[in-house]
Amino acid sequence: MLASPVVLSDLQSVLPPSARVNARGHLEIGGCDAVDLAAEHGTPLVVYDAASIRDQARAFRDALAATGVGGEVVYASKAYFGRAALALIAAEGLAVDVASGGELAAALRAGVPAERVHVHGNNKGPEEIAAALDAGVGTVVVDNHHELDELERQCSGRGHTQDILLRITPGVQAETHHRIATGQVDSKFGFPLAQGAAHAAVRHARETPHLRLRGLHVHLGSQLMDLDVFPAAADVMARFVAEVGPDGLDVMDMGGGLGIAYTPDRRPPSPGTFVDVVAGAVVDAWTARGLPVPRVTIEPGRAIVGRAGVHLYRVGAIKDVPGVRTYAAVDGGMSDLLRPMLYDAVYSPLVAGRADAEATAHYRLVGKHCETGDVLVDDAHLPQLERGDLVCMPATGAYGVSMASNYNGQPRPAVVFAEDGRARLVTRRETLDDVFAREL
Ligand code: LLP
Repeated sequence: MLASPVVLSDLQSVLPPSARVNARGHLEIGGCDAVDLAAEHGTPLVVYDAASIRDQARAFRDALAATGVGGEVVYASKAYFGRAALALIAAEGLAVDVASGGELAAALRAGVPAERVHVHGNNKGPEEIAAALDAGVGTVVVDNHHELDELERQCSGRGHTQDILLRITPGVQAETHHRIATGQVDSKFGFPLAQGAAHAAVRHARETPHLRLRGLHVHLGSQLMDLDVFPAAADVMARFVAEVGPDGLDVMDMGGGLGIAYTPDRRPPSPGTFVDVVAGAVVDAWTARGLPVPRVTIEPGRAIVGRAGVHLYRVGAIKDVPGVRTYAAVDGGMSDLLRPMLYDAVYSPLVAGRADAEATAHYRLVGKHCETGDVLVDDAHLPQLERGDLVCMPATGAYGVSMASNYNGQPRPAVVFAEDGRARLVTRRETLDDVFAREL
């Protein structure tokens, strides 16, 4: 293995935009010294650059506004549904997508106006539907016929008419990890186009008195670096709209999926490029068929919060397996960052206390969990580690804490928002009492 130097300048593109090395040689985020944050709040610790979240939200919002197609930017809260983040994103004028009753509660508790909430889910329970209707949500994205029936039953009972979109499976294959590809025919999500199922769904929705069909929805996959799949999906959807008739179908929601860089060699499209490609694809496909161009909605999650967040871990045991490799274990792992295990995701760590030190050694960076697969970075190129070093994992802001668990009874980490040299604790660390609070 060649030992080329890895210093902060190489990692700038995967770290939050405000990241820099301060005079003490420490990593700084949002003007806050990462070593000091870890000392104050303990580890593992999740630190968000609040300005980065705000800037990404604005970038999507402004880019969509500039296209003139109308429509909404809907933040996919599954990426991270912490209250501070949701409040900040809603304050920028974004709507919020929730995929469960839990995420609905998160959005409402964060003060997101109910009419700006879009309710997703492939198996919404009757209580979840009731909670959404009680709150007065703006849009329900309907996944299946059971849900059309249940929604109609509950809406007619309330004398309420609900705006809905129908989720369609367009049958296009996005290039990404198979566990996060969604638009293909063989999917649990949405009404398939095959054999008229989606056509029947549109008829069903149009005949249902308390549901107002406003448009269609697709989501193609996540962590997409190549946007070619969007024109392909738009074409399929325009053909479908031509077949069922555009009546009332004023919204085309193209879902989320824009990828981010986890390693510095990747260059994801910008929010502006994503919006232009997606909106342009819809405009072109609808225009080509002489259809009235709908409003275009997008649902970015990862691209809003992913780069903003980092995990900070403390190095504990360092173990040399002679002739094989050196293991360095940190005080978290698959309980707070599951992506490497679930999607073979590769991250680019650095040592926060020596942020511009040259990487001269290789480690398998592992967690503390009782499981061989608890590997955070298979081959981490780092400066020589010492017990007590603070390791920073960049680009963990999306699907990090939102997928955290209590495996091995591990309390979930605290979350801090850093901005302009001030750090705000937004989620305290779980205590063991929290972990065991449900035991009877
Ligand atoms: N809209 C819908 C309907 C979705 O299902 C998703 C993600 C999004 C929007 C947001 O996609 P994004 O812009 O974040 O790619 N846990 C996986 C990602 C699962 C994504 C599920 N759906 C990961 O860590 O890679």
